[in-house]
Amino acid sequence: MESNQTILITGGAGFIGSHVVRLFVTKYPNYQIVNLDKLTYAGNLENLTDIEKSPNYTFEHGDITDAIYIDSLFKKYDFDGVIHLAAESHVDRSITNPMEFVMTNVIGTANLLNAAKTAWDCSMKTPDRNGEKRFYHVSTDEVYGELHNPDEFFLETTSYDPRSPYSASKASSDHFVRAYYNTYKLPVVISNCSNNYGPNHFPEKLIPLMINNIMHNRPLPVYGKGENVRDWLFVKDHARAIDEIYHNGRNGETYNIGGFNEWKNIDLVHLLCKIMDEKLDRPEGTSVKLITYVTDRAGHDLRYAIDANKLMKELGWEPSLQFEEGLTQTVEWYLANKEWLQNVTSGDYTKYYDKMYK
Ligand code: NAD
Ligand code: TYD
Repeated sequence: MESNQTILITGGAGFIGSHVVRLFVTKYPNYQIVNLDKLTYAGNLENLTDIEKSPNYTFEHGDITDAIYIDSLFKKYDFDGVIHLAAESHVDRSITNPMEFVMTNVIGTANLLNAAKTAWDCSMKTPDRNGEKRFYHVSTDEVYGELHNPDEFFLETTSYDPRSPYSASKASSDHFVRAYYNTYKLPVVISNCSNNYGPNHFPEKLIPLMINNIMHNRPLPVYGKGENVRDWLFVKDHARAIDEIYHNGRNGETYNIGGFNEWKNIDLVHLLCKIMDEKLDRPEGTSVKLITYVTDRAGHDLRYAIDANKLMKELGWEPSLQFEEGLTQTVEWYLANKEWLQNVTSGDYTKYYDKMYK
């Protein structure tokens, strides 16, 4: 691949995208990084203030559902690669407003595929030539459905069985990406990652929502009995895996990304309460009293668990942090960035929270 490439990163103002943008801008000063983001409620340029003035970074405000705009962006820049993260990403929102997920996650991805196919003139070139380009689609483990048997893990070969509007929209986008590889030889690669956590995570998701509520002595809403299991990975480790796969992954392949780090929700919330009590100098046991069991999520997937052996063996990636260490760093970040939290939880967030939980 070129040593001076121009890469389009979509969704770079969001949680994971901002960590990927920062990694690429700082690690590859010869690359030009173009961050395209619509700045929905989840997109926040405050996530990138430390690198926004870097000479190899450009922000483009736009919507991936707008095909004409996306085509014009591919004409304005001669992209060598795309790392596509822009999405509607919250399962609960997909239950109340599924069409938004169809538009951004399915149509938006198809628009990007079409623009790349045209710009890279794929069907006219040999697969080798196309191999100099790269379309990287960032997906989720939720496309595989849910697991019941504790010995089972999601493999790259596991059949898709999406069960929420969010995971159905991501599964659909994955299918389009593979179809463009098979049909037009678009040089694609896909990764499916487990649940991320870390700094800049929007406080509608479990971990930052609980941290925010503990800080403000608000009830901690645990869905159902808190028995559902998720596999958690520190966001910077996901960004490192994306870097590795973007540069060294094989065309047409899928790589699962995960930390072999499964937690029942209720156990995770207990651990978080313990860390928060320590950090806030509250007597141990204070925050646990805030736990409140609430009505379960509709169609709530029981367990996700990723087998990341392919990525580890083929590309030598492994997670850098133990969970307790990562969670402690995350708590410290939120306590040190109360203004960030305050800014993202004013306005629309309050309306969303009241609708969801009251
Ligand atoms: P996020 O919701 O924090 O950020 C999404 C970003 O996309 C935001 O900046 C938003 O403004 C932007 N965006 C949304 N709609 C857009 C549109 N129509 N046009 C342009 N930009 C738009 O999401 P995240 O948690 O950072 O997830 C990023 C990607 O990683 C998603 O594709 C998601 O499916 C995937 N993923 C997330 C997780 C996780 O645990 N968060 C795990 C695995 C995979
Ligand atoms: P979430 O962070 O929304 O991620 P996902 O649904 O994509 O895995 O939720 C993680 C787990 O936490 C999931 O099992 C739902 C549960 N949960 C709660 O119990 N309470 C909450 O307020 C939220 C947001 C999630």
